[in-house]
Amino acid sequence: MKIPISKIFFDEADFSIVQEPLKSGWVVQGKYVEEFEKQFAVFSDSHYASAVSSCTTALHLALLALGIQEGDEVIVPAFTWISTANAIEYCGATPIFCDIDLQTFNIDVAQIESKVTPKTKAIIPVHLFGLAAQMDEIKALAQKYQLRIVEDAACGFGTKYKNQPVGSIGDIGCFSFHPRKAITTGEGGMLTTKHEEYHKIIRILRNHGGGMSDFEKLDQKYTFLLAEYKHLGYNYRMTDIQGALGVTQMQKTDFILTKRKEKADYYNEKLKDLNWLKLPYTPAYSNHAYQAYVCLFEPEKLQQANIEELHKKRNDLMFALEENGVITRQGTHAVTSQQYYQQKYAIKNLDFPQAYIADRLTIALPLYPTMTQTEQDYVIDMLTTQYAKL
Ligand SMILES: Cc1ncc(COP(=O)(O)O)c(C=O)c1O
Repeated sequence: MKIPISKIFFDEADFSIVQEPLKSGWVVQGKYVEEFEKQFAVFSDSHYASAVSSCTTALHLALLALGIQEGDEVIVPAFTWISTANAIEYCGATPIFCDIDLQTFNIDVAQIESKVTPKTKAIIPVHLFGLAAQMDEIKALAQKYQLRIVEDAACGFGTKYKNQPVGSIGDIGCFSFHPRKAITTGEGGMLTTKHEEYHKIIRILRNHGGGMSDFEKLDQKYTFLLAEYKHLGYNYRMTDIQGALGVTQMQKTDFILTKRKEKADYYNEKLKDLNWLKLPYTPAYSNHAYQAYVCLFEPEKLQQANIEELHKKRNDLMFALEENGVITRQGTHAVTSQQYYQQKYAIKNLDFPQAYIADRLTIALPLYPTMTQTEQDYVIDMLTTQYAKL
């Protein structure tokens, strides 16, 4: 049996709709992107949604819209995908890393205040793996120090903090439609906001800094004139082929999220007695949307002295699983363990011990909406039998 870490869920509606822009000849940002944005704004309880080429470009535009620039500091968790921090670098600003809470894998809110300086302008909480960060605490700090909040909701499709969809709690939210995410457009991203001024500048900056997209210009009298370019912008647009896919993917939201939860609940039940594996935690303030089912390999009490030895053991287990057809992944990485950041900011792995442990000891198990019980039982069986052989 071969079980991938994740599997895209496409159906006839997806296969059919992507042909529409091809047949019409309108393949750049157009009516399907507009429709996808409308649906996404409703889904995420935001007034405005703007589609872009990825969550990474969404994060970049979000920070630019908030005026983040050279000399500014932005607080970001040490354990997240590297592009959360890269977006800060693109603006010429400085990422200030904060360690995480190992139970939730999200930013440790108790440590944020110690990172604030007169240069701090914003904070990027990440709703990692589909679990919301502690937004009340983060909002209180943001208010106290006049900080803006960009939610990295790349993994947060279907995640709610105290019943409020993530991406609609801070100033701007950023989502990803990469194939490892709940819904996909190949590559793709979305910015959500309730603030009209941010919405306006986001749409200009994603379009080379020009006032109107080609599609919007169709209604104008002088379509032959180019837009005005008052800003240094980018081409971060989503194509209408992706937009069309977004529309049909949105129609499957309930099915996809329900199935992911069902499969995760099955793992939760079947794996709960393993004393060497910590399963994903769900606090009262958030649901878990299970963008990924990420566990912590913890066969003994974790100390600095045994991290490397346990890391080797975890890798041996992941290798044995792969040999038996079960594909796993580490949860994500500690950005603070990546060479670019270590060299630029003189950071060492253990400056952020919880992030480092998560980097070294997490295991994501296969999870996708069409996963069968037989497949899940096989993963569970392999996990226990291969661990016993270590
Ligand atoms: C937390 C987080 N932020 C940002 C990104 C970047 O998303 P994209 O691949 O759409 O640029 C990812 C992607 O994995 C992510 O997991």
